[in-house]
Amino acid sequence: MEIPETPADRAKFAAARRALDYVEAGMKLGLGTGSTANFLVRLLAEAPRASTLLCVPTSTRTATLAASLGLRVATLEEAGTLDLTIDGADEIDPALNLIKGGGGALLQEKIVAAASRRMLVIADAGKPVPTLGAFPLPVEVVRFGWRATMGHVAKLLEREDVGARAIRLRGGEAAPFVTDEGHHILDLDLRRIGDAPGLATRLNALPGVVETGLFIGLAAGAVIGHEDGRAEIMEPPEAD
Ligand code: A5P
Repeated sequence: MEIPETPADRAKFAAARRALDYVEAGMKLGLGTGSTANFLVRLLAEAPRASTLLCVPTSTRTATLAASLGLRVATLEEAGTLDLTIDGADEIDPALNLIKGGGGALLQEKIVAAASRRMLVIADAGKPVPTLGAFPLPVEVVRFGWRATMGHVAKLLEREDVGARAIRLRGGEAAPFVTDEGHHILDLDLRRIGDAPGLATRLNALPGVVETGLFIGLAAGAVIGHEDGRAEIMEPPEAD
């Protein structure tokens, strides 16, 4: 595929192209969702080893794209444990904890990442941040009783170390966004998340919450792409 025209797309493309180095023939591969992951899917489809890969997409969108380009697509049940998942992110902190779900596919993305031996993030240089939270945190909730669930979330946030506490139903009440799994998404504008692992655990314990966009300890590395075509690798800090 040709190098894209806009600087933003060139950075995403650079990350996706570098990530191809991690894909080996015969791999069972999780395919992420979003504009950066779309570049990866397109590049993979052109790679010489494309026909040897078994790909598990993380959304209907990615499944449709991958199949249309001739990649071999399977369900997670058919594939079992995956060798590698490559996916985008909305924010990446220095410990490689992530906010994901800007595109609404966080549930399948997390299930696929957790079923993989390794998760590699691909992102442009705007995604690494010192602290998570400037990007609104997506929380997937069941449709039944979503307003009551939002109340539980609001109450929890009163006790959390965050910079703001605004919550909105994605899409609005008249036409709420519905995920691939038939749920709604609450976007939490927190500005700064003081304790991301703790918040993820406490949100997940609330009735009605299906999953959060906090990906804690799942990513093993990140490829950060730049507009000039460079790509650098971010790795998690050494454990003490
Ligand atoms: C999809 O639900 C998200 O988790 C995406 O991975 C994330 O929003 C990154 O998307 P872009 O690559 O389009 O920035």
